[in-house]
Amino acid sequence: MADPILFRPLTLRSVTARNRIVLAPMAQYSGIDGVPQDWHLANLAARAVGGAGIVFTEVAYIAPEARISTGCLGIWNDAQEAAFARIVDFVHGQGSLAAIQVGHAGRKGSTTKAWEGGRPVSPADGGWPLMAPTDAPWSPASTVPRAMDGADIAAAVAGFAAAAARCRRAGFDIFEIHAAHGYLINEFLSPLVNTRTDAYGGDPVRRSRFLMEVIDAVRGEWPEERPLFIRLSCSDWVAGGITIDDTVELCRRIRTRGDVDLIDCSSGGVDPRQQIAFFPGYQVPFADAIRNRAGIATGAVGMIQSPHQAEEVLANGRADLIFLGRTLLADPHWPLRAARALGAEVRWAEQYHRATTF
Ligand SMILES: Cc1cc2nc3c(=O)[nH]c(=O)nc-3n(C[C@H](O)[C@H](O)[C@H](O)COP(=O)(O)O)c2cc1C
Repeated sequence: MADPILFRPLTLRSVTARNRIVLAPMAQYSGIDGVPQDWHLANLAARAVGGAGIVFTEVAYIAPEARISTGCLGIWNDAQEAAFARIVDFVHGQGSLAAIQVGHAGRKGSTTKAWEGGRPVSPADGGWPLMAPTDAPWSPASTVPRAMDGADIAAAVAGFAAAAARCRRAGFDIFEIHAAHGYLINEFLSPLVNTRTDAYGGDPVRRSRFLMEVIDAVRGEWPEERPLFIRLSCSDWVAGGITIDDTVELCRRIRTRGDVDLIDCSSGGVDPRQQIAFFPGYQVPFADAIRNRAGIATGAVGMIQSPHQAEEVLANGRADLIFLGRTLLADPHWPLRAARALGAEVRWAEQYHRATTF
């Protein structure tokens, strides 16, 4: 294949990714007091050495009580900022762009780690109180959140802005707002959760007000020359919830504002009744619809496993970037193997040069 798109550089504002392969944000539940550890450096460094164009950290939270678990990362203090800066430097040294996803877990916070079952942890057992658009819990077994008042909303918006300032200082190239998977911003967007009757609830425009305030606040601290992404759940996969048509409308409004460079197109997580059919590329139609109907760049994610599958998505104009989660967990050198499969020339780390002909 001549000049596969997967290996063509992509410029967004002032930064250029060497290829279209992105390590998707993936929580490792291995932080201490929200600070990234050697595990995080090793994990992200391996994917940079392996040739990904953009390396995303897992989601980092804006405050201690915004986390899912005690193992989650944070971006609210100097120690976290310094530890992230070390990771950014290594990733840059390998020729990858360094990206960070930032979020607030809303009513899905304060649980045990994923591999401990994700069970609710009460404040008496070391957890923390939750807040959300309303006081409805995620599931009958989940902790009941407090319905956020105006001061809570303003504090969360300010938390995203403060996080953006820290990410700027740490040297990240790309900032992604986590507005998916049933966490706080997604809870405001979805009519299944947001039944508020004030300015933050009601029709789709009012339900998106919190997200728009977060975008404005982040852009106030995030340099004009650096790209801003948003991860959205494009469908709630529940009758009466968000559909792809709703998300296309939202993305048209986001595009018009000019602050956001790319929509990272995920789905689900807001309601345990969701019915998702998983198959290779199952979320690609969302990236396709948003790119081609809303006119904004997209990332495709979800069970993209082979180089030719990734190339198909790009070559048919269905997305601009390919986010890989489990594929890159299983094989950090997937980009190097994909280059060989598609006939692209890529530079291996000099230390690994003798393996290029294997
Ligand atoms: C271990 C693990 C942790 C994850 N953590 C995050 C996260 O921090 N933020 C996020 O938006 N998605 C998270 N995800 C979802 C992935 O980013 C990705 O969207 C999902 O795994 C589907 O892509 P895949 O089929 O290529 O794995 C996680 C997935 C896995 C497997």
